[in-house]
Amino acid sequence: MNRSIRVLATLAALVVVRFVAPGATSQAREGHKKPLSSLEEGRQVLGSNCAACHGIDGKGSERAPNIADNPNVRRLSDAQLTSIIAKGIPGTGMPAFHSLSSTRIRELIAYLRRLEGATRYIRLPGDPGKGEAIFLGRTGCSNCHMIAGRGGFIASDLTDYARTHSAEQIRGAILESSSADQVRLATVIVQDGEKYVGRVRNEDNFSLQLQTLDGAFHLIMKSDLKKLEYDPQPLMPTNFGSLLTRGELNDLISYLLKTAGNSDPQKRAKESDMDDLEE
Ligand code: HEC
Ligand code: HEC
Repeated sequence: MNRSIRVLATLAALVVVRFVAPGATSQAREGHKKPLSSLEEGRQVLGSNCAACHGIDGKGSERAPNIADNPNVRRLSDAQLTSIIAKGIPGTGMPAFHSLSSTRIRELIAYLRRLEGATRYIRLPGDPGKGEAIFLGRTGCSNCHMIAGRGGFIASDLTDYARTHSAEQIRGAILESSSADQVRLATVIVQDGEKYVGRVRNEDNFSLQLQTLDGAFHLIMKSDLKKLEYDPQPLMPTNFGSLLTRGELNDLISYLLKTAGNSDPQKRAKESDMDDLEE
């Protein structure tokens, strides 16, 4: 008796799961359909600047190709698309849009990405394993950043970054580096000629604390300072938009999401839609 009740309960639980699961997905889809104000802007920019040639909703016309769900366009990074829109394609019928502000172009691209089948909102983002290889490999992220105990000390540890940042915010941090703009590498030469290159972590009237790229801290008295010079360029490279394809960027983002324990792309995608709504 007891046993059959337990079996029944298990069966009931299974039935509930089967019924809830499709419901949850359709709910996610509905959240996704909500009109987003910046996307609406993007739709209008497309309507008034591009539709005459690329057709209503960018699906193409006899004058210009489809840009809405065209794999060629999907493969372009945001930086490449921005450049096409701002500079045109010389020698073709694709004009330059000098008059569109970078905000308008960003909204337009967000809208185009949405038309592409919303890859980055729903099937977001990529392969965390590949992302890990990119992080540790040629892009050199791990020269500066640490994830899960592997990497450098000179920039912030990114292991938990995605716990408080959406996929879109991570994308922004990598491509626009705005939060990193202020961080410059310093070159310090002291009286006896010894030279240190690193990041000034602390400074007061008498001393500064410099962290060199190997992670070591050096206390340098200002009275002992011969030269202190900051790099004109931010420490975080600003060219990842052209260095990484969209796919590679998605791989990286999914790696960050995964290390922070956010391995559910559907959930993150939904949350990043919510972020858009709050904008
Ligand atoms: C006067 C007509 C015209 C207008 C207006 C126009 N385009 Fe184009 N566009 C073209 C043509 C023609 C091409 C194909 C160029 C070629 O032969 O490579 C093109 C190509 C492109 C491509 C590359 C497509 C690919 O397959 O690589 C993109 C992206 C693009 N346009 C975006 C836009 C956007 C966004 C707007 C609005 C801001 C816009 N275009 C407005 C005519 C136009
Ligand atoms: C040469 C060093 C360097 C490299 C290489 C580098 N970054 Fe950064 N990054 C920084 C610095 C400096 C900051 C500013 C945050 C801090 O450390 O104070 C930063 C900030 C960030 C942030 C925002 C985090 C925060 O704490 O504000 C993210 C996300 C990020 N980097 C990701 C990457 C990824 C992904 C790569 C590789 C594609 C990369 N970075 C490569 C130095 C670097």
